[in-house]
Amino acid sequence: MPAIFNWEDNHNKEHKATQYGWFCAIICHSTMGSQWIELFSILIIGMILRGGMVSSTTKKSVLDTATQKLVESQVWRSIFRHGYPDTPLNQSLVMMGNVFLHLHPVKVSRQAMRVTYTWCLGGISFFLFLVLTLTGVFLMFFYVPDTGVAYQNIQQLSSAVAFGNLVRNMHRWAAHLMVVSVTLHMIRVFYHGAYKPPREFNWVIGVCLFFFTLFLSFTGYLLPWDQIAIWAITVGTNLAPYTPILGDAAYKVLTGGSSVGQPTLIRFYVAHVIFFPLVLALLMAVHFWRIRKDGGAAGPPPPPRREQETEVLVGSTRS
Ligand code: HEM
Repeated sequence: MPAIFNWEDNHNKEHKATQYGWFCAIICHSTMGSQWIELFSILIIGMILRGGMVSSTTKKSVLDTATQKLVESQVWRSIFRHGYPDTPLNQSLVMMGNVFLHLHPVKVSRQAMRVTYTWCLGGISFFLFLVLTLTGVFLMFFYVPDTGVAYQNIQQLSSAVAFGNLVRNMHRWAAHLMVVSVTLHMIRVFYHGAYKPPREFNWVIGVCLFFFTLFLSFTGYLLPWDQIAIWAITVGTNLAPYTPILGDAAYKVLTGGSSVGQPTLIRFYVAHVIFFPLVLALLMAVHFWRIRKDGGAAGPPPPPRREQETEVLVGSTRS
């Protein structure tokens, strides 16, 4: 068990604190060096010193020593595994050792942090996905994917269920807006050339996210089972036989028969409420993880060294 205090410096001046410290030290030794008691005694000494029993210079040195002891103690080090984050290494360790901070990249481009750089379009897309999930779960309580009752279910939901019309419209609007925001996000990423290395894999994940967002929207469109839904999906699925190689097989897989009917409705329902949301959630997790690993949003390249030096010189002449 190491000594808990540097008594040499403060011996004469802090009589009371010294006595208390020795008392604590003895207890620490006699309890097989419990780190908890050591920490506790340091805290008590801190309180005594704060109470103004000793001169300010002594206070400072004693507090410094106490702080140092605290930071070196096993309890402290078990919680914080790195030093104060004033070096690049410690800054990285702090980011990686914290459950919340580790979701962010260790370093980000200052330019890319501006709202007007990303317009938060990716974040908005994610937010809309969450809205869709929550409102979709609500709708599931009132909807049965049966061609005999689906249309009536939606009518009742809109007219007889508390907040039914509101939630249904939130779901519809969020779906349309998500298609818009994901498309704009894709355009923004392309405009900034953020598809280039090292982000090319995330671009591919993004393309998958884009298509799955469209599939989610397409499958949801059939569910109200009204005239517009049935005929829109009839037109959409009639494109399937033109798929290269697969041809008619693609149509049969989509509709489950030779026209849009009950098998189509149940297929679209399962795809809409289970398959596509799960795939999207999984792809989003990979997408966000890659954003972190690729160093956050790609900012513009830093200005050449010579330009930076000129800026510094101009700045110092002005001041
Ligand atoms: C469900 C759809 C999507 C969600 C929730 C989403 C989410 C995000 C978020 C939150 C960011 C951080 C920066 C920002 O907000 O712009 C981001 C960046 C990025 N996204 Fe998406 N995204 C989606 C779809 C897409 C699509 C369709 C593409 C491209 C085909 C794409 C490619 C990228 C790339 C390459 C980055 C890095 C951008 C950069 O470094 O500037 N994402 N995404």
